[in-house]
Amino acid sequence: METMYDRTAQDMGNVLGMEHLNVTVPNQEWAQTFYAAGLGFTRDPYMMVGPENMWINIGQQQFHLPTSTPQVFPGPIGLVVPDLEALKARLVRIRERLDGTKFSCAQDDDGSVTATCPWGNTFRIHAPGPQFGDMTLGIPYVEFPVKPGTAAGIGQFYKEIFGTSYALTQDMNCAQVKVKVGPQQCLIFRESPQDIPEYDGHHLAIYVANFSGPHAFLKQRGLITEESNNFQYRFQDIVHPETGRKLFTLEHEVRSMTHPMFGREFVNRNPSQNLMAYSRGRDAYIAA
Ligand SMILES: [Fe+2]
Repeated sequence: METMYDRTAQDMGNVLGMEHLNVTVPNQEWAQTFYAAGLGFTRDPYMMVGPENMWINIGQQQFHLPTSTPQVFPGPIGLVVPDLEALKARLVRIRERLDGTKFSCAQDDDGSVTATCPWGNTFRIHAPGPQFGDMTLGIPYVEFPVKPGTAAGIGQFYKEIFGTSYALTQDMNCAQVKVKVGPQQCLIFRESPQDIPEYDGHHLAIYVANFSGPHAFLKQRGLITEESNNFQYRFQDIVHPETGRKLFTLEHEVRSMTHPMFGREFVNRNPSQNLMAYSRGRDAYIAA
């Protein structure tokens, strides 16, 4: 008998991937301690190597950390790392150096780890698993608290403007929408009755195949906030595609596939290497 495949399961919308998250940090030494020594990620060796900015590689995603007053994503940022036990040991080792900051780390009931950066960004860190496809190191999701009654409209915005699929779910407390922004990546907007922190200027970057279509929609409604260059523009307001009602604020850096940095290979190291137990030939991170 012929195998029946669900061909829609492999469909991608217009968003090819979420590449980087950008938050400004006031102290590069603390940032390096948290992201490189603690989380075990790798400083981009080619770009932004001075004290004014640091790019941190996490598989094929990045954090951008320019030096300035701190910015904080309002919800947890999902991470996948290959070895949670090694991660926990590293986080314990940096505790003292980040004493007096907002740094914290704890193990969750489901086995994942929650860590908070020195300025309050929260990371939910998972071992690889089927829910993350073949990702063993990367940023699979970012979650945002949003006002009640906005999740469905946010899903429609991404579907209409970016051709992305979304899943809207509702439980007793709230609705949430999961928007696909890459083969193994999503943005999660979860309705919350609590106050939503005022938007502070953090941003994320996405690559799209159809670059002009979303631009035309956003431009017509006066929503483009920056015409960066030939290959990039930005917007901040997520609006209901029919009524124009503003639903949420989150700066998106939108890049074309012709952007010079599209598909750039990121260098990743094996963070388990150390002086006392060095393994020759094992410096680079290799996906398990
Ligand atoms: Fe950026």
